[in-house]
Amino acid sequence: MKILVINGPNLNMLGIREPDIYGSGTYADLCRKITAWAGEMGLDVELFQSNHEGAIVDTIQAAYGVFDGILINPAAYTHTSVAILDALKAVSIPTVEVHISDVNEREEFRRHSFVSLAAKKTIAGCGFDGYRMGLVHLKEILS
Ligand code: DQA
Repeated sequence: MKILVINGPNLNMLGIREPDIYGSGTYADLCRKITAWAGEMGLDVELFQSNHEGAIVDTIQAAYGVFDGILINPAAYTHTSVAILDALKAVSIPTVEVHISDVNEREEFRRHSFVSLAAKKTIAGCGFDGYRMGLVHLKEILS
């Protein structure tokens, strides 16, 4: 089972960026954890991070016919990107959305997610562990 993990803008700054909200773990730490969890679950993962909306759209399109599932933290694009929503709908690959912080308990503008309209499930506020939960859910729905 091939899973594409996409992280959006500023997630490469984890560990530096607002540690009171996102914790002290770095993006490299997150990648190590995802890779280890996927290995334990027998999943084949590929990791991608970009600060650019178009690059994320291109990567979702390129996943068509290649990946069985997508785990995505669209970061700020969650709340703005119809393009990412449309790309996910275009490829129709089962998708789980994840957020490190609890977006429902922060500013009002973070409560709306375009991406959730194409996601089978949204996990928020569980820190890095949300990615593990997302992989578990994808494995369940793809089995
Ligand atoms: C985030 C939440 C978003 O609102 C924010 O723009 C991010 C990260 C999260 O993981 O909690 O960059 O997606």
